[in-house]
Amino acid sequence: MSGCIQSGAEIGHNERMSSHLIPDDHPAPKLSETLDALARPLRDLRISLLDRCNFRCPYCMPESEYHADFEFLSRPERLTHSEILRIARIATGLGVSKIRLTGGEPLLDKKLPELVAGLAQLPGVDDLAMTTNAMLLESVAGRLAEAGLHRVTISLDSLDEQIFLRMSGGRGNLARVLAGIEAAERAGMSPIKINVVVQRGVNEHTVLDLVGHFRGTGHIVRLIEFMDVGNRNGWRMNQVVPSRELLKNIEARWPLRPVGRSYPGEVAQRYQYVDGQGEIGFISSVTEPFCGSCTRARLSADGVLYTCLFATHGTDLREPLRSGANDDELADILSRTWLQRADRYSELRRPDVAEAHHISKVEMYRIGG
Ligand code: GTP
Ligand code: 5AD
Ligand code: SF4
Ligand code: SF4
Repeated sequence: MSGCIQSGAEIGHNERMSSHLIPDDHPAPKLSETLDALARPLRDLRISLLDRCNFRCPYCMPESEYHADFEFLSRPERLTHSEILRIARIATGLGVSKIRLTGGEPLLDKKLPELVAGLAQLPGVDDLAMTTNAMLLESVAGRLAEAGLHRVTISLDSLDEQIFLRMSGGRGNLARVLAGIEAAERAGMSPIKINVVVQRGVNEHTVLDLVGHFRGTGHIVRLIEFMDVGNRNGWRMNQVVPSRELLKNIEARWPLRPVGRSYPGEVAQRYQYVDGQGEIGFISSVTEPFCGSCTRARLSADGVLYTCLFATHGTDLREPLRSGANDDELADILSRTWLQRADRYSELRRPDVAEAHHISKVEMYRIGG
């Protein structure tokens, strides 16, 4: 069993953050909570259900790499729903109150409503969400809501048909995605968030149109800086559109005012339209990192626990799960992993190092963003 959680050691990932750098929005720990090496509690568990996806977004799963011969995890390699539920239950005992289901694409899991129902019943889970590309959402949104899914976040990069098609690797159907969003709305899931990865020269010129479309609908658009996750998306700093640039352009059209975070450690910087037409968020992991308040652990479909989106190593939970570890032993592995955590990749990122792809990082589709 590997207890190794060292990630990004080549770029000084394990340096301790000195106390004067602890940010104002640092989540105040409660007495019973497990704190990592930088005093951050474990609050969120992001569960990747499978590594497959029906899209091939070039910034995440470029077709050239993820082609017909690519070997994804086989069913026996993936955690079963009961294994996932067990880990989630143990994690809630360590302070997790927010669970997000991700993929790849979580809706490719045909038994998702049953899993959602199990997770929704766990004591202590007060936020149960899912990130999806929404292609398969329309027919299942009602069942997911009934099972207890509180809300969905939809990845949708452009409302321009051609650009959307290109950014989904030729796989997406915009009408179906929009129908999926409407179905989630009808099912009462709220708030619905729309995640938009913005890339220089690709979709930046369609952002205003997308923002205008969702303004006044109650859905929250969040514009995400293109990140150097994994090693296969050819990331370059010059493809990042800094949030402050987008903010300026949007503000010039629809005046905005900043609003505080809705919970400690929220990744998006929130703004409201001055005319009351809703809210928009900016996720600026490249230009304004937020590691100081990061309370997220990520579980891959094959049962590896990662303590950073940019991790190079994780802690295998599947082996102890399948070789008879009891709940206390599993809780011990989880809490030891968290106690040793000192990740703050985004704060230490150096574009020259990131561009040279020197470190071998976990791919985004394996831990779901
Ligand atoms: P809410 O619970 O709705 O606030 O969202 P969330 O915090 O769960 O964020 P979400 O999963 O929608 O993340 C949106 C995007 O932010 C992801 O796709 C990533 O691109 C980025 N992101 C989320 N968490 C992290 C993180 O821990 N580190 C970094 N660097 N980026 C993150
Ligand atoms: N940079 C920023 N966000 C990304 N996502 C996937 N790859 C990247 C990247 N390289 C986002 C997707 C989705 C979530 C799962 O992660 O748009 O919203
Ligand atoms: Fe699939 Fe989401 Fe990755 Fe696109 S970003 S390939 S929809 S997992
Ligand atoms: Fe958390 Fe992201 Fe920073 Fe890693 S890079 S510590 S996942 S905020």
